[in-house]
Amino acid sequence: MSLYRAIRWRRSIRDYPNKELTEVQLDDLENDLAETRKFNTEVSVDARLVRDGRALQEDISGIIADYGKVEAPHYLVLTSEDTEDGYIEVGYRYEFVVLDLAAQGIGTCWIGKGFQDEQLNEYIELPSGQTCVTLIALGPLSDEEELYEIENPKRKAPGHFLIGRSPNSLAKETVEIIDCFRRAPSALNAQPWRVIGEEGTIHLYLRERNKITKIVLRNLNQLNRVDAGIGLCHLEVGGKYFQDGVEVGETNHPEKKGLSYIGSLIGRD
Ligand SMILES: Cc1cc2nc3c(=O)[nH]c(=O)nc-3n(C[C@H](O)[C@H](O)[C@H](O)COP(=O)(O)O)c2cc1C
Repeated sequence: MSLYRAIRWRRSIRDYPNKELTEVQLDDLENDLAETRKFNTEVSVDARLVRDGRALQEDISGIIADYGKVEAPHYLVLTSEDTEDGYIEVGYRYEFVVLDLAAQGIGTCWIGKGFQDEQLNEYIELPSGQTCVTLIALGPLSDEEELYEIENPKRKAPGHFLIGRSPNSLAKETVEIIDCFRRAPSALNAQPWRVIGEEGTIHLYLRERNKITKIVLRNLNQLNRVDAGIGLCHLEVGGKYFQDGVEVGETNHPEKKGLSYIGSLIGRD
């Protein structure tokens, strides 16, 4: 299955059967981690696979996050330098892994971090200068949880994300590309992305929280940057499916109050 199709089939899986992935599947995953696509090569980002996730699960009660209890056989611990660019990069790089796992019929769920870095000491060695940003739970699917194509995802309508234009004024394939990123997973399903489409290029922004909310909800602010990177990954996968020769990168873009610029899907012309 292609990554584009995986976008339409993926959903968060929170119930896992009492089974594990095979050693070969876990070895393949570990190899893939070293070769993920990169948006920003300047930031330090890493991922560690915890093969015995059940032990980690029992040890760290906070992993059972505030919402949606998840108990999985394996976890990816995603780390980065403690910067906004680092969190965005975590979302971007490892959503490719999530889509690739979905394409193989393997379940995943991004998990907000509800514990201290020190609690991971027994399981992984954190790369120096990095902090754990978030986790991905993963494992085989039970018969009841098989993936299927989702016709109507629980998401806001495409027009909600578009600044300054209605979807009717856009080319059909641009609307399809917007559909690809709105299907991306986001913390609390907040869908904090906004886009501006101009001359073959789609600029992606993150809706900013005000300063006080940012301080009080520091953890959520961090997770929203991860959401932004995840959205960028979906924008790229959708863009490359519908248009030849597009790339994601940073380019001239309109400044908008209350929105922070993340990156663009840059067309040929
Ligand atoms: C950064 C991030 C953190 C998340 N944290 C959790 C979590 O702690 N617990 C949980 O059950 N789901 C978590 N999710 C999954 C979202 O709730 C889920 O993606 C969203 O509700 C959309 O549903 P879907 O993934 O099935 O499309 C998280 C997703 C993201 C992207």
